[in-house]
Order: sequence, then C-alpha cells, then structure tokens
Amino acid sequence: MSVIAKGLSEDEAMQATEWFASLKPGVWEKVVETDTVPKTYVSDGHRRYVRPGGETEPIGHRIIEVPQDPLRVTSRDPHCGFIVYVPVGSISRGEELVTTGGSGKTFACAICHGPSLTGLGEVPDIAGHSPTYIVRQLYGFQTGARTSGMAQLMKAVVAQLGQDDMVAIAAYVASRAPPQRRGSNHTIHNIAPPMIFWGESIGILAESLMPCTVRIRKRIADHAGG
Ligand code: HEC
Repeated sequence: MSVIAKGLSEDEAMQATEWFASLKPGVWEKVVETDTVPKTYVSDGHRRYVRPGGETEPIGHRIIEVPQDPLRVTSRDPHCGFIVYVPVGSISRGEELVTTGGSGKTFACAICHGPSLTGLGEVPDIAGHSPTYIVRQLYGFQTGARTSGMAQLMKAVVAQLGQDDMVAIAAYVASRAPPQRRGSNHTIHNIAPPMIFWGESIGILAESLMPCTVRIRKRIADHAGG
C-alpha cells in the first residue's frame, strides 16, 4: 500500500478521497453472538476462512470474522460482507462501556464520535466497522503504535481497557448501523461543544498537541461569529 500511496500525486490522492467519500456504505458486518464457532484457517489475503468439514470449536475470548461468501470475497467483490462471531454477552457489555463509559473504565464514545457513532466534525465514524479493525486500532492507541495529533484524544479512552473490554466494545460498535454516507459531510452544526469541554475537563487540551481540536474550536467560533 505504501508503494501505491507514494506513487500518487496530491491531485490523484484528492480524487481518490472524493470518490471513496461518495460511496454509500451498506451493512458490511453481521454480528452473531455464540459459544461455538466453525473451525477456521487463515489464507488468501490474510483472511480467515471456514474449514470444510463442518467441525466446530469454542470461541473463547476471540472475535472470528469470516466472509459471508468466500468465493466472492476472494475475487474482491466489494459488495460481499462478513459474518462476525463474538462471545455471548459481548454486545450488551460493549453497549454499557460505549454508552456510559462503564463507571470510569472508559468514556462514552458518543461525546466525540457522535450520538450514533457515525462521526462528528473531524472525528471519524466507527459504526458498523470491522470489529477486528476496531480492536487493532484500540490496541494501537493503547500501545502507542497509532500516534497522531488527533490520536491523543483516544489515549485516555483506552488506557484502562483489557482485551475482553476491547472485544465487547468492538462487537457493539460493529453491530451499529453505518452512516448514510461516509466522508466529511458533517456540517458545523454537528460539532459538539461537549467534546471541547470534555477535552478541557480532563486536562488534555494542549492546543499545540491538538491541531484537530483547535481547528474544531476555530470552526465553532467562526460559526458563532457568522
Ligand atoms: C475525546 C474524544 C474521543 C472519545 C471520547 C472517543 N474517541 Fe475514538 N477517536 C477520537 C479521535 C479524535 C479519533 C481520530 C484519531 C486519529 O486520527 O488518529 C478517534 C479514533 C477512533 C478509532 C479509529 C477509527 C479509524 O477509522 O481508524 C476508533 C476505533 C475509536 N476512536 C473508537 C472509540 C471508542 C470505541 C470510544 C469509546 C469507548 C471512543 N473512540 C471515544 C476521539 C475520541
């Protein structure tokens, strides 16, 4: 991917961005709670596939994500989604953490990601995303593998999360409906002042560290003035 990205001019990158932003997302992930999953293996494209033969095994603490139709996914059909098996109880446990912060374990995601988790201002949408991807990102924020100015806002969110918490959060977030349209279509009216308040209240609003927050602030100020 980095080779392809390096070969793109700024104009081409903008065109690709606009095209991707214009796509209307469908429901991509079907989340199923279960104690038992089909036996799987990892193959083509580093994806997990169901083993032929119908054998099963306990899910344990894992998320098992497999194509709904292996042939279509292998041939890169972008309209074929995935079935995501998650441990029983994950969705309601995740809902509690995501909507209330779980009594101080984390923070309610809607403050920054919007009431339906479909994005707010410059904060990305997360609803309906692949739970494997979500766990990887949460883990990346926690270990410091993902660090940008904006990633600072996620540090306190993940600081106390264990692996089971991340699995539960990802199961719930993946089960939510994706936004009608991805991309930066959120109007200024959608930007939540509580996000700014929240940043200040936990003392992480260092303006030099937080270009995103500063930009959002400026947009709120511009909007209020105009
Ligand atoms: C204080 C604001 C804030 C809160 C609260 C917050 N987030 Fe975030 N989140 C962000 C920002 C800003 C980014 C973008 C970071 C970047 O660009 O690297 C982000 C990025 C993410 C990403 C990566 C998205 C992607 O497309 O790669 C995930 C996943 C995520 N957040 C999940 C959550 C979950 C789950 C919660 C609640 C438990 C939560 N966030 C709470 C601000 C927040």
